[in-house]
Amino acid sequence: MSKYLLPRLNALDPYVPGEQPQDRRYIKLNTNESPFAPSPRVLAALDTEAVGRMNLYPDPIARVLRETIATEYGLTPDNVFVGNGSDEVLGFAFMAYADETRGATIPDVSYGFYRVYAQLYRVTPTIVPLNADFTLPVERFLAQHQLVAIANPNAPTSLALAYGDVERIVAGNPDSIVLMDEAYIDFGGETCLPLLAQYPNLLIVRTYSKSRSLAGGRLGYALASPAIIEDLNRIKNSFHPYNINTLTMLAGIEAMRDRPYFKACVQGIQAERARSTQALRALGFTVLDSAANFLFASPPGMDGRTYYEKLKARGVLVRFLSQPTLENYVRITVGSPEQMRALLDATAQILGEGNL
Ligand SMILES: Cc1ncc(COP(=O)(O)O)c(C=O)c1O
Repeated sequence: MSKYLLPRLNALDPYVPGEQPQDRRYIKLNTNESPFAPSPRVLAALDTEAVGRMNLYPDPIARVLRETIATEYGLTPDNVFVGNGSDEVLGFAFMAYADETRGATIPDVSYGFYRVYAQLYRVTPTIVPLNADFTLPVERFLAQHQLVAIANPNAPTSLALAYGDVERIVAGNPDSIVLMDEAYIDFGGETCLPLLAQYPNLLIVRTYSKSRSLAGGRLGYALASPAIIEDLNRIKNSFHPYNINTLTMLAGIEAMRDRPYFKACVQGIQAERARSTQALRALGFTVLDSAANFLFASPPGMDGRTYYEKLKARGVLVRFLSQPTLENYVRITVGSPEQMRALLDATAQILGEGNL
């Protein structure tokens, strides 16, 4: 750190992304990416002609991309905002709706970036512990009078919230924004999209990184009332007007249009999720009922860190989160059948070592 950095930024605890190691080839089940390549239509759209247009700035209002997303969800483009990954959308939302005078309510176990953005924007968050079974205590998210941010399904727990509970929370905070982060909603759970027509305080955040196989493209979006979209545009245009690059814009349009490919990928993950859940439970694991593209699993007879380390030594990477209530768990991305076979083989070896 340089001596020039502002003191308040000295104190930041930046987000620590999942490992992207370059030292050897791992079976990567640690960052909830898709094991499938992007749609072939994406590959076809990123031709030399598109690359040749990169001397020009991209469309700052991302017109065609927003129209494509709006059409997919039965909305209009003024209901759609696009960001450089949903992380950027989340960052703009925290910047727009929370500061030292108006806080944010978040679960204690949820996507780690919510705390980071809170800290960055000088928000003292209200942190609500999950129930012992990792479910959300819905009543503690009502009447907050400040930003409420929740992931549904939640990460890393993989659990979905019932539609009625989401509506209670949105209806229960009429004077503040409720941000529902639906990064994993395509894999399970029920989207709260139908609530948009009724609740002007609802802000839905989505990503292309998981179900649309475009984590490397960095593309996320928000669905909300036109007034909220206008707020986000105010921030974007004060920060980074050309936030979606030319190639990602094209990729995003084609990935959204290729509905059959999207469905096939989601179904592939759901089938593998069911098989792996069953297989791990048969080995004595506790595995929560996942509505996402990852499993939240506790190995028999060892803590999460030990299992993580033993898997890593065998070339399989999963995510261990060192929060106290999560110490017996790891988060395992649902990968391809071959990747999951490798995970299960390594796991059987580890359990067979006799150090239970
Ligand atoms: C709940 C949740 N929200 C948002 C993101 C960020 O996704 P991206 O910035 O790739 O769109 C993630 C990434 O893992 C996530 O788990």
